[in-house]
Amino acid sequence: MMYAQVTGWGSALPSRVMTNQDLEKLVETSDEWIRSRTGISERRIAGPKESTSTLAIRAAKYALQVADLNPRELDLVIVATTTPDYPMPSVAALVQDGIGAARAGAFDLNAACSGFVYALSVANGMIASGSAENVLIVGAETLSRWVDWTDRGTCVLFGDGAGALILQRSDLPTGLRSCILGSDGSGASLLNVPAGGTRTPITAEIIQNRQNFIKMKGPEVYRFAVSVMAQAAQQALTAAGMTADDIDLFIPHQANLRIIQSAMKTLKVPPEKVFINVQHYGNTSAASIPIALCEAIAEGRVKAGSNLLLVGFGAGLSWGSAVLNWGVTPSSVTDSWWRSMVRNVQGREAAVRSFALRAHRRLELVGTHALRRFNGWTEA
Ligand code: COA
Repeated sequence: MMYAQVTGWGSALPSRVMTNQDLEKLVETSDEWIRSRTGISERRIAGPKESTSTLAIRAAKYALQVADLNPRELDLVIVATTTPDYPMPSVAALVQDGIGAARAGAFDLNAACSGFVYALSVANGMIASGSAENVLIVGAETLSRWVDWTDRGTCVLFGDGAGALILQRSDLPTGLRSCILGSDGSGASLLNVPAGGTRTPITAEIIQNRQNFIKMKGPEVYRFAVSVMAQAAQQALTAAGMTADDIDLFIPHQANLRIIQSAMKTLKVPPEKVFINVQHYGNTSAASIPIALCEAIAEGRVKAGSNLLLVGFGAGLSWGSAVLNWGVTPSSVTDSWWRSMVRNVQGREAAVRSFALRAHRRLELVGTHALRRFNGWTEA
């Protein structure tokens, strides 16, 4: 039996902080309203040179550093995101190139805020089936680019960031103990970006009506979130043969403090067993669970042998929950000069490799053109 052990983790957040007071200058709202309804005080907003892939690459590099893994050894890169850099190619392809994962396949996965649990499940399955040995999964979002900054019902909720995990094949019986995934597309219109896809392409009128931004029916999503979070968590516990008492730390999707508190109350989980950082980052969608996990590790709340319960929900509607048995002792990464030099070389190698591949492609094209012209001349 093969298990998928988490051996590396990392997160990346934009440096720009947007506080509730900053939002008071943009829309008719107040710090008091936002904090009392959502628990959010501030969020991070990507700078002009940042995007989902740049945040994902930063998080991935930290995770590789913790795992002490050469990116060339990765078999697969999965990026869970709803806010890709482009409609195509995938963010995962950009990450694969950016970190120099020369041998890896790469694809994006869109399950909105539940995406990271979905990615964890897919990576676990690939490793357990023997199809992959080393997998990088990233949850990364730049929701600030899709938020309507004139809509106070949504713009106060979201933020940008990325979190990554490395999963490696292991004989030790740790890793995913259970995972349940769910979807209810009948609720698709409750939280969506109505235009910009193939059904409703962007036109001047669409832009004028602001249909290319996130729309949400807040109270309906709230009701769904509270019930599905408790239900999905309970199902994952049952599937793992555990109760809430067996879990050392609950790491829920960080959308709204009230949603988390209400769901945890239903599950009878004491507050000290729940990790919360929504106050600092708002809802970072697929990135929220891995960012929270990285912070929980940094705070010493995750140890070898810890049982973690991850639970997410979001657009789709979608949800996912997993019980994860943590296998390694999280120690802080003390970088020797040698390791940091090797990593530096690997980083440069990725850039050089990418440049060389692009140059090779261009030369090939020039060569083909030249050959065609030459053949044209000789045939004429
Ligand atoms: N500042 C001040 N007032 C606001 C506001 C804001 N940012 N946003 C909405 N309001 C107002 C509304 O206009 C409404 O005013 P009205 O009564 O005069 O019409 C009032 O506050 C109540 O609005 P409502 O939407 O019913 O508030 P709520 O208590 O449901 O809280 C949310 C709104 C968005 C915080 C809440 O519905 C929620 O968290 N929903 C789930 C969102 C979520 O988690 N989405 C992501 C899922 S992954």
